Amino acid sequence: MLGISDDDMAVRPADSSVSGRGNGCGSDHGSRAHSLSGKGWESRGQKGNAARSFTFRELATATRNFREVNLIGEGGFGMVFKGRLESGQIVAIKQLNLNGLQGNQEFIVEVLMLSLLHHPNLVTLIGYCTDGDQRLLVYEFMSMGSLEDHLFDIEPDKEPLSWSTRIKIAVGAARGLEYLHCKANPPVIYRDLKSANILLDENFNPKLSDFGLAKLGPVGDNTHVSTRVMGTYGYCAPEYAMSGKLTLKSDIYSFGVVMLELITGRKAIDSTQKQGEQNLVAWSRPFLKDKRKFVQLVDPLLQGRFPLRSLHHAVAITAMCLQEHAHFRPLISDIVVALEYLACQSHKESPRSVARSPSSSSPLQCNSGSFS
Ligand SMILES: Nc1ncnc2c1ncn2[C@@H]1O[C@H](COP(=O)(O)OP(=O)(O)OP(=O)(O)O)[C@@H](O)[C@H]1O
Ligand SMILES: [Mg+2]
Repeated sequence: MLGISDDDMAVRPADSSVSGRGNGCGSDHGSRAHSLSGKGWESRGQKGNAARSFTFRELATATRNFREVNLIGEGGFGMVFKGRLESGQIVAIKQLNLNGLQGNQEFIVEVLMLSLLHHPNLVTLIGYCTDGDQRLLVYEFMSMGSLEDHLFDIEPDKEPLSWSTRIKIAVGAARGLEYLHCKANPPVIYRDLKSANILLDENFNPKLSDFGLAKLGPVGDNTHVSTRVMGTYGYCAPEYAMSGKLTLKSDIYSFGVVMLELITGRKAIDSTQKQGEQNLVAWSRPFLKDKRKFVQLVDPLLQGRFPLRSLHHAVAITAMCLQEHAHFRPLISDIVVALEYLACQSHKESPRSVARSPSSSSPLQCNSGSFS
């Protein structure tokens, strides 16, 4: 049976200990009724391309019986296979491990969320299968895989992501998050932002994936939703990890961790590093505090090929996102503006300007937090 618990979709009562009202995106979300309709929640059904139901046989045929050569990845949810539908469309098919309630709930939330939310920076759900006990999700195929595949453990013969591509990915991921926080009504807290969940198309356009942990955000005077702490260690905001109080600012912290991964080429958590360097945020703190040390953060694979001014702004944005106090973290809409500015600059500047010092400031001023 398809069932869903309160914990996965319900919005809990407010606790005024977390400051800030609404989502701060300049909309009237707070005063609206809590329903899955409204501007940001367009139904693709009306446009004739709703997620459709597949039979298990159709998906077995598409993946040639889930052959090992078609296996493209595996995560907590299950295995992911490349497949070709009868129509000829290439897809990614995720097969849920048949191991209990949690996965089933994530499956339902994923189908619900992706049936209602549509944006160029969110992955498209083509369909699903609920034959018997089977639970499968069919997505558009993202030919470059995940951001994680391009940042870490790169083969020596593989070209690392350039600085401008990293900024492009940051902009796209921020736009996807902005859509969830500011355009969806009620807003959606993504809760699982990490480089493994940012998928890339052939032009390195990023799309957010995996909405099984997403929550509807607080509405009205509520400031947060209370949940069991879920998500991925290393990306989780400290206040959420400690209290389970989830706000839009929890996503901003995770976005800061992804920014740090883009800048450094280091994993959020890396147990192969020596003690003191395994947690990326903890390792980076001394560098984030001192402008003269920003360059020491940069991924050595870039071999100095990045504009210094762009680096300074990118690190400043990152540091703001990673502030311990959720209240001081910026809104995603401000981050989008600041990153879009950086993306324009990255095209204009020559990449070998490492020796120049930063002069102009980005739209997101660096006047709060631990750097000055
Ligand atoms: N739509 C897709 N197109 C192409 N490859 C995909 C797609 N979805 C997933 N993959 C591949 O499958 C891998 C596993 O994805 P999956 O979402 O199952 O796990 P994860 O994100 O690594 O971990 P977690 O289960 O914690 O979210 C991804 O890293 C990616 O390489
Ligand atoms: Mg994933």
